[in-house]
Amino acid sequence: MVVPYKHEPFTDFSVEENKKALEAAIKQVEADLGKEYPLIIGGERIMTDDKIEVVNPANKKEVIGHVSKANQDLAEKAHKIADETFDWWRKTKASFRADILFRAAAIIRRRKHEFTAHLIKEGGKPWKEADADTAEAIDFMEFYGRQMLRIDEGVEINSRPIENNRFHYIPLGVGVVISPWNFLFAIMAGTTVAAMVSGNTVLLKPASATPVIAYKMMEVLEEAGMPPGVINYVPGSGKEVGDYLVDHPRTRFISFTGSREVGTRIFERAGKVHEGQQWLKRTIIEMGGKDTIVVDKDSDLELAADAITYSAFGFSGQKCSACSRVVAHEDVYDELLDRVVQKTKEEVNYGDPTDNSNYMGPVIDQGAYDKILDYISIGKEEGKLMAGGKGDDSKGWFVEPTVFADLAPDSRIMQEEIFGPVVGFTKAKNFDHAIEIANNTDYGLTGAVITNNRSHIEKAREDFHVGNLYFNRGCTAAIVGYHPFGGFNMSGTDSKAGGPDYLVHHMQGKTTSEML
Ligand code: SER
Repeated sequence: MVVPYKHEPFTDFSVEENKKALEAAIKQVEADLGKEYPLIIGGERIMTDDKIEVVNPANKKEVIGHVSKANQDLAEKAHKIADETFDWWRKTKASFRADILFRAAAIIRRRKHEFTAHLIKEGGKPWKEADADTAEAIDFMEFYGRQMLRIDEGVEINSRPIENNRFHYIPLGVGVVISPWNFLFAIMAGTTVAAMVSGNTVLLKPASATPVIAYKMMEVLEEAGMPPGVINYVPGSGKEVGDYLVDHPRTRFISFTGSREVGTRIFERAGKVHEGQQWLKRTIIEMGGKDTIVVDKDSDLELAADAITYSAFGFSGQKCSACSRVVAHEDVYDELLDRVVQKTKEEVNYGDPTDNSNYMGPVIDQGAYDKILDYISIGKEEGKLMAGGKGDDSKGWFVEPTVFADLAPDSRIMQEEIFGPVVGFTKAKNFDHAIEIANNTDYGLTGAVITNNRSHIEKAREDFHVGNLYFNRGCTAAIVGYHPFGGFNMSGTDSKAGGPDYLVHHMQGKTTSEML
């Protein structure tokens, strides 16, 4: 029997010993930078000439690694191996597969600071955010391992006399996992191991900005006993390798987390039945958010200001769950805005994330930097700039924490996903009006309501249409197994990562009935 699931605790870096341990790990990781990484196909290491140069977003000159890039021939080779491996992998015992995850989680836990230090460098994450990312990767392994064991116990169905009926879930086949750069470890690991532990084989195409951590996870899984061919590591360009794998007639499902633009493109492509294809492809797609914190008249404004500041600026706003809109009751709007602006100016400093005194690090790359600054220019037209508003890309891609006030609910700043440290404020006449504004987006991922009014909590529970709704706290930081995570509408398929039925999305139900 495995012990019950409990989420991995976060590290307290105010404890000198922990601080020293992470500092030492950062030094160790720095000495290890700039290596070349091969593809892993059927366990074989294949180094290609064409490579992705992965840089530290806080210091563009620092190369994290040179990662081999798959092309269509190599993608085809990997697909064939995944397909052949599926023939026997699908019949392995659930406990065999789950045990690999439990061992992998233990290995990562023992080397936790090393992984966290790597995330600081490759993802530009502040200590706290990087530590949470590592913890979440561990959580996904522990949680999905247990979930697979439970699914393996079977589901009770009815049988009539002289009839023996059974129902159980079987895996789907070859899955393509395309993972994001923002939770470069946690979401990459979670989506990959969920597909694998439920008996599928996987082609893992990590985000091109952050593929090194995925290589490191592959090494851990191999050390934990994962056989060759089960997960194949094929970084490469979306247009060349991503499309090829998505379109492949032997691809059974696609698990994607990333932008709305790419997610809808994958959804469309997956809908086309190609020659030789024997099934309709399954898609598990998690996209963006335009997440709102509603602040009611009767509420704790200090709590609200804390929740907004952290949800908007933690990891530079680069979470699909990040708060990018605040809707405040007109009676508290001015005071709340003052408090958030003051907090932002006083507390949210930014700089190289290896220095733990920086609240925020950089944004991920030039594309993100340019897009965020474009939105900041738009914001200056649409609203009133209250804090921040500038960027500096001379060394790394840094953007000031930015607050806009007095925006119209239908302005671009209040409608479009910026994915950076920018938050907009708008005013509501009353609570019903606030919920109406909160729902006025294409997305439906997270939201929060700060209120002391019980009937308003109940109203929001029914009417605030988001996959993850939080009361009297911020709208980020879902914990695996505690806050199943995923959104409505253009936020995705709401498959609820870290939720009780997540693995079932990677499986299909089979009924057998024997006459006795
Ligand atoms: N799960 C993360 C959060 O809740 C976002 O992916 O912040």
